Amino acid sequence: MIDYQLSNKKAMVTGGASGIGLACAEALAASGAAIALWDLSQDALDTAKAKLAQYDVPCITVIADVSDPASVDAAMQATVAGLGGLDIAVNNAGIGGAAAKSGDYPIDSWDKVIAVNLSGVFYCQRAALQVMTKQKSGSIINMASVLGQVGIALSSAYVAAKHGVVGMTKSAALEHAEDGVRINSVGPAFIHTPLVDKTLSPEAQDFLASKHAMGRLGQPQEIGQLVAWLASDAASFATGTYYAVDGGYLAS
Ligand code: NAI
Repeated sequence: MIDYQLSNKKAMVTGGASGIGLACAEALAASGAAIALWDLSQDALDTAKAKLAQYDVPCITVIADVSDPASVDAAMQATVAGLGGLDIAVNNAGIGGAAAKSGDYPIDSWDKVIAVNLSGVFYCQRAALQVMTKQKSGSIINMASVLGQVGIALSSAYVAAKHGVVGMTKSAALEHAEDGVRINSVGPAFIHTPLVDKTLSPEAQDFLASKHAMGRLGQPQEIGQLVAWLASDAASFATGTYYAVDGGYLAS
């Protein structure tokens, strides 16, 4: 892995126990950052933490439900106390939601997806900003999706939330550039993670692969590399932007 020279940095990753979040944590840890993994289950966090041991960086685990602002604030306090500060926030936790047409979309699934995928990113970004604006530095990376740029049938809640993340990121970046805080969103196309592999049949995955110019789904590590760059001082002029990593999904 590339060394983005993060050895003096402290990072939190929501949804850090699985998939893209874990790959982001690995890429940050491989560049020397201390890590706080946030997720819902202690067992999953313990397994993820064991995977990070090879990087020999400080790592703490924090139970947090990003859809609950009180849980987010408590997790942020535990993170700052446990790591001794916060320089990097990767607001990644997300869920898929129901597959249904908009006219039939279940209200409870709409509410849940918006709560986790949009409000959750807002709560975590808000909590991170309260730390970073005081110290006048930091990098926030919000996990959007190619579905923050284009639609897809049967996923109106997910698409709405991801478009919201892209817009919210731009506003926050405009507000906080003067505070030395950079804020960007990342847009993966379809990536092999439990979210995709457990919910989509091999046939559905083959069909989706054909929608990418490269003819395949991505790997979580391919997202982690971009996130580590955005977190680092190598990205010192990058703020308020949406970065797709999509194997050509959006090119057509
Ligand atoms: P995943 O299902 O492998 O991991 C998501 C993690 O988030 C899990 O560990 C889960 O426990 C955690 N989580 C869920 N709800 C939570 C909550 N309320 N509070 C705290 N943690 C919670 O999913 P994956 O694929 O790694 O997704 C990560 C992010 O990347 C999501 O925001 C997703 O929308 C986004 N994304 C994923 C793509 C894919 O194809 N896998 C494509 C584009 C974006």
